[in-house]
Amino acid sequence: MSNNLVVIGTQWGDEGKGKIVDLLTERVDVVVRFQGGHNAGHTLVIDGQKTVLHLIPSGILRDGVRCLIGNGVVLAPNALRKEMEALEASGVDVRSRLGISPACPLILPYHVALDQARETSRGKKAIGTTGRGIGPAYEDKVARRGVKVADLFDAKHLQQRIEEILDYHNFVLKNYFKCPEVDVSATVAEAMEYGEFLESMVCDVAEELHQLTKSNGKILFEGAQGMLLDVDHGTYPFVTSSNTTTGAAASGSGIGPDQLGHVLGITKAYTTRVGSGPFPTELFDAIGQEMGERGHEFGATTGRPRRCGWFDAVTMRRSAHVNGLTSLCITKLDVMDTLKEVKICVAYEYNGKQVEVAPGNAEQLEKCSPVYEKLPGWCQSTSEMDSFAALPQNAQAYLNRITELLDVEVSIVSVGPDRNETLVVRDPFSWC
Ligand code: GDP
Ligand code: IMO
Ligand code: MG
Repeated sequence: MSNNLVVIGTQWGDEGKGKIVDLLTERVDVVVRFQGGHNAGHTLVIDGQKTVLHLIPSGILRDGVRCLIGNGVVLAPNALRKEMEALEASGVDVRSRLGISPACPLILPYHVALDQARETSRGKKAIGTTGRGIGPAYEDKVARRGVKVADLFDAKHLQQRIEEILDYHNFVLKNYFKCPEVDVSATVAEAMEYGEFLESMVCDVAEELHQLTKSNGKILFEGAQGMLLDVDHGTYPFVTSSNTTTGAAASGSGIGPDQLGHVLGITKAYTTRVGSGPFPTELFDAIGQEMGERGHEFGATTGRPRRCGWFDAVTMRRSAHVNGLTSLCITKLDVMDTLKEVKICVAYEYNGKQVEVAPGNAEQLEKCSPVYEKLPGWCQSTSEMDSFAALPQNAQAYLNRITELLDVEVSIVSVGPDRNETLVVRDPFSWC
C-alpha cells in the first residue's frame, strides 16, 4: 500500500472531516481537495479557536504543508479570495503554499443565478442546495462549455467563451426562469481580474503529486460532502453534483487509484443531514433536538439547522463498500453522553420485508422504516477521556457494536471539537 491517506465523509457530510484532516496533516507533505467546491464547510478548532474552511484544504493551519486544489474542484475565485484574506489577516501564509489546477472549472455569477432560480422554481421539491452555483458549474463542465482556470489567461478567448455561454444561459434565465439576465461585459471584466488573482498559484497538480509519490512523500486526500450526497451512489436527486466517494480522489487530482493508500471513513456517532431528501433514522422528538443542541448542528456554510437521527448501519454498510474503507473515525461521541439509551439502525423494513442492504435511490429509501437495536447509554462525560480503554464500558460497547456491524476497524474516536479531543485507537498510517 502507498504512503497516502484518503479522508472521506461516509454519511450526508459534516462528519468532522476538517478536524481529522487537520489532525493528521502533522504527518503529511501535501493535502489535496479533489471534488466539491465552497459548498463544503470544514471546521477546525485549535486551542479553542475556530476556523471554518470552504475551499482551502484543511492542512493550511500546519506550517510548511503544501495545500492543493485538484481538477475535480469547482472553483469560485471570489470565495477563495475571501477565505485567503481572512486567513492571511490572522497570520497564516496561504499564497505561497496553495496550488490550484488549471483544469478546475470556474463558478461564475451566472452559475449562482441559475442555482438559485432553479431552487426557487422547484418550490416544495427544492433540493435545498447551498445556493453557491455548484450544480450549474458541474453541468457546464460535463456539457463541455465550462470556463476553466486555464481559460483566464487569454483575454480574447475568454471574452468569446463567456459571450457564447451567456448567450445560452441568459436565454434560459430570461425565458424559462423569468429572472434578470447576467451582464456579459461585467462578467468578462470580473473573470479577467480573477486571472490576475489566481495566476501565481496555478500549478500542475497531477505532476506535483506524481513527483511527490516518486520521492516517497505522503499525500492526504481531503473529501468534501459525504457518500450519501454522491451524484451516483447517494440519495439521488437529493445529492450534490460531484462524486464524493473515494474513487473521485484519483480522477479529481490526477493520481493513479493504486496510489490512494488507506481510506479513513469519517462518521458521526449518530447521523445528520442538511437540505431535503430521505433520512430513515431522523428523529423529530426531544432526543433529536438534544443531539442538535449538544452537537451545535448548524450548517458551517449556510447556518441552516441540521436534521438529526440515530446511527444508520444500513447506509453505512453501503458506504463502507463503495468507499473501500480501511478504517473508521467515529466523531462526536460526546454529543451522546447524556442519553439513557442509544439506538442503532441495523436493518430496514421495506415492502413488508426486513432488508440489510440499503436501496439505491431516494424513492425507495423514503419507504424504508428503521429496525433498531437498543443499547444502554453511558450517561458520563467522555470529552476528558484520553484513550479508548478509559471510555465508559457502555460507550466502548456502542463503538464495538458499530465495528461489528460494519466489519471495519475503528482507528480514531473524537470526543470534542478541539484538535486535542481525539483518541487514536490505531494510527491510520500504520496501514500504509
Ligand atoms: P466537516 O464538513 O465534515 O468538516 O464537518 P463540519 O465542520 O461541517 O461539522 C462538524 C462540526 O462538529 C464542527 O462544528 C466541528 O467543530 C464539530 N466537531 C467535530 N468533531 C467533534 C466531536 O468529536 N465532538 C463535538 N462535540 N464536536 C465535534
Ligand atoms: P461538507 O464538506 C453537508 C448538501 C446541501 C444540499 C445538497 C446539494 O461540509 O460535509 P449543493 O450546493 O452541493 O448543490 O447542495 O448537498 N451539501 C452538504 N451537506 N455538508 C456539506 O459539505 C455539503 N455540501 C453540500 O445541503 O442538500
Ligand atoms: Mg461541513
